[in-house]
Amino acid sequence: MSGTGSEVPAVRGLWTSRVAFILAATGSAVGLGNIWRFPYVTGENGGGAFVFIYIACVFLIGIPIMMAEVMLGRRAQRNPIDTMRDLAIQEQQSARWAWVGRMGIAAGFLILSYYSVVAGWILAYIPRMLGSVFHGMDAIEVESVFTALISDPERLIAWHTIFMVATVAIVARGVEHGLEKAVRYMMPALFGILVVLFLYVLTLDSFVDGLKFMFIPDFSKFRGESILAAMGMAFFSLSLGMGAIMMYGSYLPKGASIARTTIVVAMSDTVVALMAGLVIFPIVFANNMEPAQGAGLVFTTLPLAFNSLPMGALIGTLFFVLLAFAAITSAISLLEPPVAWLVENKHWDRAQAARLCGGVVWLLGLGTVFSFNLWADYKWTQKLDLGKVQFLLWENKTFFNIVEFLTANVMLPLGGLLIALFAAHLMKRESCEDELALDNHHFNLWYFILRFIAPVAVVIIFLHTIGVFNMLGLID
Ligand code: PHE
Repeated sequence: MSGTGSEVPAVRGLWTSRVAFILAATGSAVGLGNIWRFPYVTGENGGGAFVFIYIACVFLIGIPIMMAEVMLGRRAQRNPIDTMRDLAIQEQQSARWAWVGRMGIAAGFLILSYYSVVAGWILAYIPRMLGSVFHGMDAIEVESVFTALISDPERLIAWHTIFMVATVAIVARGVEHGLEKAVRYMMPALFGILVVLFLYVLTLDSFVDGLKFMFIPDFSKFRGESILAAMGMAFFSLSLGMGAIMMYGSYLPKGASIARTTIVVAMSDTVVALMAGLVIFPIVFANNMEPAQGAGLVFTTLPLAFNSLPMGALIGTLFFVLLAFAAITSAISLLEPPVAWLVENKHWDRAQAARLCGGVVWLLGLGTVFSFNLWADYKWTQKLDLGKVQFLLWENKTFFNIVEFLTANVMLPLGGLLIALFAAHLMKRESCEDELALDNHHFNLWYFILRFIAPVAVVIIFLHTIGVFNMLGLID
């Protein structure tokens, strides 16, 4: 980042360039969401149809809302809460829009709480890979290593702590240090290993099964919440709806094209997710594993692939190191909004703010740690059956499942919906035109999608999930 400009509050600077913004936003977007969450949620939702809706959501909802988020952030140059408040006041709207920022920050805390625990699993795999623990193991044995790990709360807490301490340490020093360069080299390296794995799975007989699973829709495996899950995945994977991208947009220099930068980030993110799926499902089918096995999917499949590669232990170690790094660049973006708010608005010391927020997240994370062992069988909720409208399909869900569902599938899309409504319906058209600086044709396209398609799609998917159309007799 360069020094602070005169119109910018003294506590913040700007990215040195458009490229630096792309790197940082890609750092936020590409992470566990692509390599851990996308494959396992795809598996749970039956593959093809889910992937198709996910891709549609990325283009019709994700990219337009991402542009809006970057636009709002750059216009206000503040943290998400103050961005929403300042812009609302500027456009003669209610200052209550600040609640969008507050909800985003709450979502960020909750997401980071489980994100950090899963990132801990990644860290735990580094020494296991390095020590060739999986060498010669079959699918069942690899699974038992994973099960042993998640059944041990102390171990999970230790790794979760290490990850949170690292995240806090980086955020405490400010976004500027080292992030840009690190993303520039480590992301392509991570992608490179995915390509190597892809070349390996190409040689498997089950490659075609994996390909079919990912791209041929089978609606019979589709569950009631699958459409919502696909939309939630698009928001989660693109880091949308909670202010992370708004925050990074606030550091984007004026004059850099928002549309082009956003599209690069969203496309890279989607390609990494699809690539991860294409690598994992052939391994699943080659070993007669269950695609719907849940959150452990990457951890039980990839070691098998590394086993079959020359220098597998080394490549595997490098993969988990790079993945841990990708996770940390996402984690930073989850922690940055509340820290920036405390620094800019409450004049806290940055390091202190980072430590406090990190501490809260760490505590929340214990709920996820225990979800895999001590609390694994605890029933948190019952299904609420209001006639034909079913609320919260939560039986048998753990604390982790509930927090994950609430954040990815409810809070992020809701935040995105409000951002879309604010930018497209309440802000003056000229303000948007001015900030995006697009030619007429492209601007109109974006504006139309943001005004009508994206919000309507989000609302329809919400209504569909809670069974409103069902109740109205529109579908049976
Ligand atoms: N997009 C990140 C990932 O895919 C997770 C994330 C979600 C980061 C929301 C910031 C905000 O791993």
